[in-house]
Amino acid sequence: MTLRFATAAEGALDLHVLEQGAVDAWLSDQPDHVAAWVRASGFEGGIGDTLVIPGPDGGPTAGLAGYGNAAARARVRFTLAAAAPRLQDQTWRIASGLPGQDAEREALGWLLTGYGFSRYRDQTAKTGALVAPEGIDADRVEILAAAEVLTRDLINTPAADMGPEALEEAVWDLARDHDAHVEVIAGQGLLDHNLPMIHAVGRAAKDDPRLIDMTWGDTGPHLVLVGKGVCFDTGGLNLKPGASMGLMKKDMGGAAAVLGLAKAIMALELKLRLRVLIPAVENSVAGNSFRPQDILHSRKGLTVEINNTDAEGRLVLADALALADETAPDLILSMATLTGAARVAVGPDIAPFFATDDALARAFEAAAPGAADPVWRLPFHDPYEPLIEPGIADLDNAPKGGFAGAITAALFLRRFVTETPRYAHFDIYGWQPQAAPGRTKGGIGQGARSILAALPEILDL
Ligand code: BES
Ligand code: MN
Ligand code: ZN
Repeated sequence: MTLRFATAAEGALDLHVLEQGAVDAWLSDQPDHVAAWVRASGFEGGIGDTLVIPGPDGGPTAGLAGYGNAAARARVRFTLAAAAPRLQDQTWRIASGLPGQDAEREALGWLLTGYGFSRYRDQTAKTGALVAPEGIDADRVEILAAAEVLTRDLINTPAADMGPEALEEAVWDLARDHDAHVEVIAGQGLLDHNLPMIHAVGRAAKDDPRLIDMTWGDTGPHLVLVGKGVCFDTGGLNLKPGASMGLMKKDMGGAAAVLGLAKAIMALELKLRLRVLIPAVENSVAGNSFRPQDILHSRKGLTVEINNTDAEGRLVLADALALADETAPDLILSMATLTGAARVAVGPDIAPFFATDDALARAFEAAAPGAADPVWRLPFHDPYEPLIEPGIADLDNAPKGGFAGAITAALFLRRFVTETPRYAHFDIYGWQPQAAPGRTKGGIGQGARSILAALPEILDL
């Protein structure tokens, strides 16, 4: 589906955005019949409040949308998105009241109210159409919306239709749209090309495990995005209990996030060299599953003792990161639904991240509010390094005790990035547990918009 601004400004109705408490002042400049109608309606300008103002013939002539106050807006990600579904069947042009610095974010939120996942049942969202507010980069906002649609659709599609092969197909589709190049190493090829941990995790599934490698652009700084593509995570032989397995179609949320980000980078034609690496596997159960206490050899040469087959994400990412690191790009970013511990730490809304350097971290933090994409830095805490060292191998994939699970997972990944000066890792949730304005229940992008907004500063674009 495509989320776009309305093109014809003629026929669009004026929409006045009013803060809570600003209604009386606005009414003092309005004709008596408008003031009477608004007063009688009880419209107060709260978030989500809307009012259509009729003309003499009873048809709509204009509308009001509440903008709340600063404290109320701080509790929501997108404000006008709460109003848009109540303004359906009309096209609106924002005539007053929307602060310029909020316009791009609010316009994106509005567009996203049009998202519905209709692959299996029509869930077309009913919402108002919006003419792009003045002063915004409308193309950029539409690109951000398209990237988010891709991410959500990929996550929402169940594993039966979004296994490793289908995920590969989705990458080919994206690459075709933007003239990118794709190479795939699958099945036995993973062993031939020294990607043994991707093979070990994925070999028990019906679809062959694979590494999907997409490249685009030929000038500028070199950026590598690595996304966890575990299309379904049963936990492997350390099988997850039912309640924990229930949502695991979303365990390719990191892949979905980096593909959305890649789509935006390519559509915006950023001047950089992009590589996207997705280890795509299903962590499944069969006679050839990898086992607890197996010791895996990794691409980088480090050996890994398996102490829980459910800590599979770091294994597939490790081989992909080692491959990325061999060319020492300017920046490597990994995104993954990697640990339950990250959820316990920050809940579903916030994308925690780890960064090897402070300037990198500050760039993401500075970009997040404007991008409506909250992030929070967690530390690569060196004193915890011993926790990932088991004794009979170089690394332990599942430290005992479970303290600092998001940090120990991140430290594990960092062991595979030694040649690249700057590395950041995002441990995302990829799922909106309850619908909120602009955010349908289900798959959701996290981190990508903040990263995109920070890239010019980080890579000097
Ligand atoms: N995909 C899960 C992590 C996950 C679970 C993310 C729930 C979001 C919601 C990952 O593969 C996993 O199972 N991690 C284990 C690691 C542990 C066994 C060391 C975890 O976090 O419990
Ligand atoms: Mn797992
Ligand atoms: Zn997983």
